[in-house]
Amino acid sequence: MRKKIIYSIALIYCAISCKTTELKVNKSGLITQHAMVVSARVEASKIGNDILKKGGNAFDAMVATELALAVAYPYAGNLGGGGFMVYRKANGDIGAIDYREKAPLAATKDMYLDESGLVIPNKSTLGAMAVGVPGTIAGVFEVHEKLGSLPIEVILRPVIELAYKGVVVTEKQEKRIKKYQPLFPKANKTPIVFDKVWKTHDTIKYPALAKTLERILKYGRDEFYKGKTAHTLARFIQQNGGIITTEDLAKYEAKWRTPITFTYDDLKIISMSPPASGGICLAQIMGMIEHYPLHRYGHNSQKAIQLITEAERRAYADRSFYLGDPDFVDIPINKLIDNNYLKSRMADFTFKEATLSTQVSHGDVQIIESDETTHYSIVDPFGNAIAATTTLNGAYGSKLYCSELGFFLNNEMDDFSSKTGAPNMFGLIGAEANSIVPEKRMLSSMTPTIVEKDNKLYMTLGTPGGSTIITSVLQTILNVHEFNMTMQEAVNAPRFHHQWLPDEIKVEPKAFNKSTINKLESLGYSIREEESVIIGKVDGILVLDDNRYEGGADYRGDDTAVGF
Ligand code: DON
Repeated sequence: MRKKIIYSIALIYCAISCKTTELKVNKSGLITQHAMVVSARVEASKIGNDILKKGGNAFDAMVATELALAVAYPYAGNLGGGGFMVYRKANGDIGAIDYREKAPLAATKDMYLDESGLVIPNKSTLGAMAVGVPGTIAGVFEVHEKLGSLPIEVILRPVIELAYKGVVVTEKQEKRIKKYQPLFPKANKTPIVFDKVWKTHDTIKYPALAKTLERILKYGRDEFYKGKTAHTLARFIQQNGGIITTEDLAKYEAKWRTPITFTYDDLKIISMSPPASGGICLAQIMGMIEHYPLHRYGHNSQKAIQLITEAERRAYADRSFYLGDPDFVDIPINKLIDNNYLKSRMADFTFKEATLSTQVSHGDVQIIESDETTHYSIVDPFGNAIAATTTLNGAYGSKLYCSELGFFLNNEMDDFSSKTGAPNMFGLIGAEANSIVPEKRMLSSMTPTIVEKDNKLYMTLGTPGGSTIITSVLQTILNVHEFNMTMQEAVNAPRFHHQWLPDEIKVEPKAFNKSTINKLESLGYSIREEESVIIGKVDGILVLDDNRYEGGADYRGDDTAVGF
């Protein structure tokens, strides 16, 4: 209540004095009674929602939405990539699945370095050498087998129909295709469908993808990993200079993981565990800021930005040193998210001046023996919820497009640390824990997250955005919990991001108070707002006090909530 009053006063004050447009008072997203799907494209949200209307559960809808995104949102939705899903069943059971890509068997630690040990530009990002072994089909089939309820035919048929019928190009999609078009011929030996000039309102049809999906429907998961599709895919990648073999595909398996859980005030946060760094980093940042009266500082105020930045700085420093694929490295998870450790990490924090990243390293934790994207959130009429983030890594992945099969291949290999200390495409620095090893999964920032309050489902959310994923999820949760925003306001609110290195706070342009920025600069913070950076593109669902659902679909994309 106290927070509500303070927030209301802040809103009135802001309405009078703030020149920024950051708070759209009382703007709520779609509100529904029974169920909801929020994803990057209306076509995918509708297909997922239709599955729920047919009596399917959140897991059936997850399979449908994931594959519908592969058709409707080729920028990130995929058959040639991978992802993570966190779930909470109506009875409170929680779990997570990792369908992250793997390094091929022929991968080597130095595969992206030249003879002098320098990183070869573009080798881990563009073309067939950048591709990791895809996990999406294994992931969705595993989810369906363990948790689904409808026959796979009922789930896949509308997706296949969409691929045949085609998808209408949006304004944003037209711009994206145009922007990346110069790169497509660099990765592909023959022209691809996206080389054409596509205009808003045109329809792109995907008959090859429809046929691939039909074969997968007929022969099951193994069609992708051992069947005709596998042979076509391995041959195609090798013909283009890559190293993925039929053996790599045959060996791929999705893995059930235990999510990271922690509390923040009266919230219980359930998020993705390694090889995704999201859950651990979120736990660290939230643990470091929990004991400060953030709501009193005010949303995007100087003190709030300082506190969150300093916690992010320290968490990302730990990320770069300790995190990698848990099947290959020992990660001191409990120690890293231990309250006393997190307090000690913030011991040198002061509001008087910025800590310099050069003075921050990973914390001292003893290792006890014993890692372009899209997110969607779903709640079903039975009370089950999922949060899933899936990716090709960069926009259209490696840009390598298998026309015969109808999909792009990822460039997820860039998420490994090609060389200790050398930044990847998101500027993230890695170390030995995230070095390349055959069959290892590359560290991810993906943070599909579910929040409970009073032991009940409260929120499901996530976002793309590379290294900014973790901080975008963080700010959205805080916007609802600390600053009492609606889900849609929380998603809309301007975001900022710090990741230890480079030592700068990225802020969304023209969205932050100038005097706040000036004050931060005077305290030693370097602010980067000149580029038109998008920090995350969050999709989420909030359970309201009356048990209805509110969707938050990010205006930064074509994201849409559909429900009933
Ligand atoms: O797994 C990761 O952290 C990255 N491959 C995610 C890439 C991403 O979010 C790109 N979207 N803007």
